[in-house]
Amino acid sequence: MRVLSSIVMCLFIIAAFGQAENKYVGVAKCKACHTSDKMGGLAYKVWEKTPHANAYKTLLGDAAKKVAKDKGLKTAPSESPECLKCHVTGGGAAKNVDAGFKKEDGVTCEACHGAASGYLNLHNKKDDASKAKAKEAGLSLGDKTGKACEACHNAESPTHKEFKMKDMWAKIEHGLPPKK
Ligand code: HEC
Ligand code: HEC
Ligand code: HEC
Ligand code: HEC
Repeated sequence: MRVLSSIVMCLFIIAAFGQAENKYVGVAKCKACHTSDKMGGLAYKVWEKTPHANAYKTLLGDAAKKVAKDKGLKTAPSESPECLKCHVTGGGAAKNVDAGFKKEDGVTCEACHGAASGYLNLHNKKDDASKAKAKEAGLSLGDKTGKACEACHNAESPTHKEFKMKDMWAKIEHGLPPKK
C-alpha cells in the first residue's frame, strides 16, 4: 500500500513538473490551423472578434486609467500585475513564454486550453491515444460549467458583473469542425 502510494505521489510530481515546464507559444501558432473547417475549426476567427482579444488593449484606455486611479495604483494599468493577472494570458509575466508570445494579444486560447509547448505537436489527431497524450501534456479542453472562467470573472475584477455561463459562453462559442 505504502509503495503504491509513493509511486502515485511520484507520478503526481512528475505530472505537475511536466505541466509547469510548458511554455506559452502565442496565439499566432493557433491561428495557423484554427481558421478553417477543413482543419481545426473556426476558433481563431471567433476569438479575434471577442473582447478577450482586446483585453490588454483595454488596459491602455481611459476607462482603465480611471479604474486604476480609483484603486490607488501608482503604475500604469498596462504595467501593473494587479491588472495583467486577468487581462493577459499567464498574467503578463515575461517568464515561461516563447518568442512568439505577445502580451498585446490579451486573453488567448492558452489562457483556457493551457500553455501549449508540450501539446502543440501532439493534439491535432483524431484518435483516442493521441488525444490522451495531448491531455497528459497539458491540453485542457475547457469546462462548460464556467468554473475555469471564474478564475478571472470574479469579484476581484474591479468592474465585475455577475457571471452567467450560459450567456457568456454563447458570446464566445467555438469548437471543432462539424462532423461529416
Ligand atoms: C498544425 C495545425 C494545428 C495547430 C498549429 C494548432 N491546432 Fe489545435 N487542432 C488541430 C486539429 C486538426 C484539431 C482537431 C483534432 C480532431 O479532429 O479531433 C485540433 C484540436 C484542438 C483542440 C480540441 C482537442 C480535442 O481533443 O477536442 C483544442 C483545444 C486546440 N486544438 C487548441 C489549440 C491551441 C490552443 C493551439 C495553439 C497553441 C492550437 N490548437 C494549434 C490543429 C492544430
Ligand atoms: C485569464 C482570464 C480570463 C478567463 C480565464 C476568462 N475570461 Fe472572459 N474576460 C476576461 C477579461 C479580462 C475580459 C474583459 C476584456 C475587455 O473588455 O478588455 C473578459 C471578457 C469576457 C466577455 C465579454 C464581456 C461581456 O460581459 O460580454 C465574455 C463573453 C467572456 N469574457 C466569457 C468568458 C468565458 C465563457 C470564459 C470561460 C470559458 C472566460 N471568459 C474566461 C478574462 C478572462
Ligand atoms: C480578477 C480578474 C481581473 C482583474 C484583477 C482585473 N480585471 Fe479588468 N476585467 C476583468 C473581467 C473578467 C472583465 C470583463 C467584464 C467584467 O466582468 O468586469 C474586465 C473588464 C475590464 C474593463 C472593461 C469594463 C467594461 O465594462 O468595458 C476595464 C476598463 C478593466 N477591466 C480594467 C482593469 C484594471 C485597470 C485593472 C487593474 C486595476 C483590472 N481591470 C483588473 C477581470 C479582471
Ligand atoms: C475563455 C476561454 C477560452 C478561450 C479564450 C478559447 N477557448 Fe476553446 N474552448 C473553451 C471551452 C470552455 C470549450 C468547450 C469545451 C467543451 O465542449 O466541454 C472550448 C472548446 C474548444 C474546442 C473544441 C473542443 C472539443 O473537443 O469539442 C477547440 C478546437 C478550441 N476550443 C480551440 C480554441 C482555440 C484555437 C482558441 C484560440 C483561438 C480557443 N479555443 C480559445 C474555452 C476557451
